[in-house]
Formats: sequence, structure tokens, C-alpha cells
Amino acid sequence: MSDFAELHFNGEVYKIPIIEGTENEKALDISKLRGESGLITIDPGYKNTGSTKSAITFLDGEKGILRYRGYPIEQLAEQSSFLEVAYLIIYGELPNEEQLNKWRVDITYHTLIHEDFKVLLEGFPSNSHPMGVLSSLVTSLTAFYPESLDPVRSADEVYMNIIRLIAKLPTIAAWAYKNEIGQPLMYPKNDLDYCGNFLKMMFGTPSEDYEPDPVIIKALNKLLILHAEHEQNCSTSTVRIVGSSHASLYASVSAGINALWGPLHGGANQAVIEMLEAIRADGGDANKYLEKAKDKNDPFRLMGFGHRVYKNFDPRARIIKKAADDVLSKLGVNDPILDIAKKLEAAALSDPYFVDRKLYPNVDFYSGIIYRALGIPTNMFTVMFAMGRLPGWIAQWKEMRENGEPIGRPRQIYTGENERDYVELSKR
Ligand code: CMC
Repeated sequence: MSDFAELHFNGEVYKIPIIEGTENEKALDISKLRGESGLITIDPGYKNTGSTKSAITFLDGEKGILRYRGYPIEQLAEQSSFLEVAYLIIYGELPNEEQLNKWRVDITYHTLIHEDFKVLLEGFPSNSHPMGVLSSLVTSLTAFYPESLDPVRSADEVYMNIIRLIAKLPTIAAWAYKNEIGQPLMYPKNDLDYCGNFLKMMFGTPSEDYEPDPVIIKALNKLLILHAEHEQNCSTSTVRIVGSSHASLYASVSAGINALWGPLHGGANQAVIEMLEAIRADGGDANKYLEKAKDKNDPFRLMGFGHRVYKNFDPRARIIKKAADDVLSKLGVNDPILDIAKKLEAAALSDPYFVDRKLYPNVDFYSGIIYRALGIPTNMFTVMFAMGRLPGWIAQWKEMRENGEPIGRPRQIYTGENERDYVELSKR
């Protein structure tokens, strides 16, 4: 194979180096192209643009493959725990027993958040969306840990920033929810595991003890693993680009939380349930909504369908669909919107519009149905996604800083007015 491609332009030939990844994916390295030829490339939405080299996640959208650090998602979802996967994603290898124990103990020890967070929380109107509260409180961690502002001063400090963020995010998330519903805040209980602790802070009250059901803990663990990392998507690239200005880990992750919030990204899980509820309220006619999704004059899209990179199937969606069936039957939940979802999926998968465009259910199509069965309120679904995605954001931020990547700064093609003279107000 040639190690360069040629670009012929204006009678000149430019050699463009080819770079190759460990799974044989190839890219044109155009980083010097403008200097040599005056040309930039343009690619709205970065549909065909690699922004970095990364050793964290391998994804083959055509074959439906997803691996964290080389390990297939199917094996991790079945056999691992979220904290173990978080360690793997951030540090590159599965932890041994000693490393995993230390990791768990360190995270568990830092679950408490400063009492002044209560004052911040009280400042939010009670109907605030928890994603807004989450991102604000994550940024505000910089005020409580100012040393995090100089994030790469020492490896120990980076480690502590990471530990604190993973430890405190469930506490912040549960407190955002409690604040919204006007219940007393519940403190972390350090004899519980990561998922059990979060559930207790969400659903426990001082007057009523709450013991998290092992079925729910297991399902939550799986969902968090499935969301833990997904290479260069909208929120992760946001984290990297914010971090590339040498902003702190907390500021960068807070930006990622905001990027995740939109309904085309992580907010799709909330939008799917709202869509399924609307179909149900409208008589349950899935075909009517398929027609709406196909109508180019109607802004409606089938939420939870389609993906920028998966063009065959989303491996996470397969695992989640099966998990949804298991969880609902184990918990004895009969949710009519699961039937609507299955009907909608079957109809879409045999419809030429969706088949031709390679639109398949994505991770968000069934995740909301499980969250609902677990008792998680709809406006917390994207918060759950953020809790899952946290190790991925941290790993990508850390990799970007360790590789010494330059500040993110795309170019553009200007399409505005050419130079013109200022006109006085009275003459306009
Ligand atoms: N319903 C109806 N039509 C769709 C849908 C959909 N959900 N998704 C894509 N299309 C059509 C789109 O109209 C376009 O048609 P045409 O070629 O005739 O113009 C074609 O399919 C390609 O769509 P696109 O918008 O160019 O594709 P994209 O790669 O830019 O967008 C997407 C990917 C995920 C934003 C999009 O599929 C979508 O909006 N899906 C619904 C929202 C959703 O479920 N998002 C969660 C994604 S997975 C979780 C995560 O973010 O990681």
C-alpha cells in the first residue's frame, strides 16, 4: 500500500501522507495541506474528519463492533462492573485485585460533597432540569478544589481530581433530583457499592429505609458500562476541545454534560420515552409516526433511531433490548410502551425509508424503558447517561493532555460580505 495520496490542484501535485490505525483504518493527514497548497478541507458536522488518534475505543459502525481498550462490549457488559470498566477505560488495562480494591476504596471514600453545595442547590428553582444543575455543580467543583485548575501539576493531583469526580457525580445527580422533588437530601452510605449508593440517595428518605433491589443494581451497572465510552462523539469531542485550551477536568466535563443534553445526542433517551408516551396517548398507531418521521416537511424524527457511525446495528442496543425484557420480567413490570417500542422497531426495520438510510435502533431506544422500570424519572435519563459516560470523558481528556495535543481550532470558509465602508446612521 502506498503511504501517501496525491492531490492534483492548479497544475501542482501535493503528497498527502496516509496514517493507519491498529485496526487498519486509514486517514489522509492534511495537517500541512494549507501551508503547502492554500487549501483547507470542509466537512460540516465532522462526518468524515478524524480529530485525533486515540487508543481508548475501537468502533466499526459497519460491522457493529465496539471495544473498550480492545475488550468487546458484550463481554464487559456481561462480566464486569462499572468501576472496573471505568479503571480500564481511564488507565488502559484491567485492574488487578489490589488496584481494583484501592480504586473502589478511594472512590467510595470521596462520595460526600461539601455542605455548601446545599446552598448552591437551593439557588435553583425546584423545576430546574437536572442536567443544568449537574453541569453547574460539576463546574463548581473547581471552587471547592482550586488545585484542580492546574490539572497536570502532578500525577497524584490528576488522580485525586478523577477520583473526586467519579465519586461525587452520583451524589450531585441524586441531590439534583431530591432538590427538584423537594425531599431531604440523602447522604452517601459507604457500605454500599457505586450503583446501590446512588439508588439509595435517589429513592431513600430519612423516614423510610430503602434497600436497593439486586436486580436493579445489576441492570444499572450494565447500563452504565454500555454508556461508558464511545470515542469522538459530540460530548466527548467537546470535552477534548474545551480541555485543549488547558481548562480543568471539571470545566471540560461540565461542557461535555451540556453537549450530551441535546435530544440528538444523550437527550434522546428522554425524547424516546416522551415519543412512545405520545404514540400511546394517540391510540398506539406506530405507522402514523413512521409516516411523520419519513415526511420531509415534518420536523419529527423517530427518536432512538439512526446513528452517525452505526450503519448496520448498534451493539449496545442489542444488549439493552435483551436486558429490557429480562429486567421487566424479573421486576414483574408490564409496561405497554415496551410493546409500542417493539412494534415501532419492527415496522421501521421493514420500511424502505429506514432500510435504505441504514437507520437502526440506537442505545437510547430501549434504555429509557429500563430506566422507567427501575423507577428513574424521565428527566433523569440523560443524567444517567452522563454518569455512565464519565469514565470516557475523563479518559479522553487525560489522553489529550498526555499527548500534548494542540488547542482545538477549526478553520472555516467565509461566505459573508466583502470589505465595505461604514455608513453613518443618518445615511442608512
Ligand atoms: N428519523 C427519521 N429520519 C432520520 C432519522 C430519524 N431518527 N435519523 C436520520 N434520518 C434521515 C435523515 O432525515 C436523512 O435523510 P435524507 O438522506 O433523506 O436527508 C438521513 O436519515 C441521514 O440522516 P442525518 O441526519 O444526515 O444523519 P446524521 O449522521 O447527521 O445524524 C443522528 C445521526 C443520530 C443525529 C440522527 O440519526 C437522529 O437525529 N436520530 C434521532 C436522535 C437520536 O436517537 N439520537 C441518539 C443517537 S445515539 C446516542 C448518542 O448520542 O450517542
